[in-house]
Amino acid sequence: MYMKHLDFFKEGIRNIRTTGTITRSSRFLCREMIRPVDFEKAKIIVELGAGDGVITRHILKNMKQDALLISFEINDKFCEILRNIHDPRLVVVEDSAEHISAQLKAHGFEQADYIISALPFLSLPKDLGINILRKSAAALKDGGIFVQMQYSLLLKHLYDSIFDKVSLRFVPINVPPAFVLVCEKSKVIGAV
Ligand SMILES: C[S@@+](CC[C@H](N)C(=O)[O-])C[C@H]1O[C@@H](n2cnc3c(N)ncnc32)[C@H](O)[C@@H]1O
Repeated sequence: MYMKHLDFFKEGIRNIRTTGTITRSSRFLCREMIRPVDFEKAKIIVELGAGDGVITRHILKNMKQDALLISFEINDKFCEILRNIHDPRLVVVEDSAEHISAQLKAHGFEQADYIISALPFLSLPKDLGINILRKSAAALKDGGIFVQMQYSLLLKHLYDSIFDKVSLRFVPINVPPAFVLVCEKSKVIGAV
């Protein structure tokens, strides 16, 4: 079902700049990542950096039957595992998160209600990170929420500059302990 711990560790080491970690998120972190989601209302959820699906499965467990989850992942081994989830509400997109708008359109949607991101912005090239964040904000509906995990608050100013309101949660039981940034889009953000 999941990749073995040792294989995840090896995959993390092999691609440390894009994976940004050697362990998958703890269940405490997964729960905190989906806490801001109102599953009664969520119709389109986008996940960025799905890995081998630990948060994906938490989302699917709570999602309504008529909702859709579009999960982005660039690592082919992780994508193979994600495709084996075999849930008709899940679309696995083996593409970079910066193509979020094009992929939403390709699946018949303009914008998402929620974006849940585990992308390792600290280890990705800075320009790519900023680009993905801006495009994610543009791909969110007004009133939508972007949720991001981070192991430090070094980049918090970026989220503050792109979203209208950012609030913070801390999850100590994770390796390493993590922050969850809940970023709200309340006003129209121009196309990028
Ligand atoms: C920190 S891991 C998170 C994995 C899993 N979601 C978890 O919480 O354990 C980050 C994931 O983002 C993926 N990733 C990195 N850059 C990406 C990009 N530009 N677009 C989509 N996924 C990307 C990596 O391959 C990796 O699986």
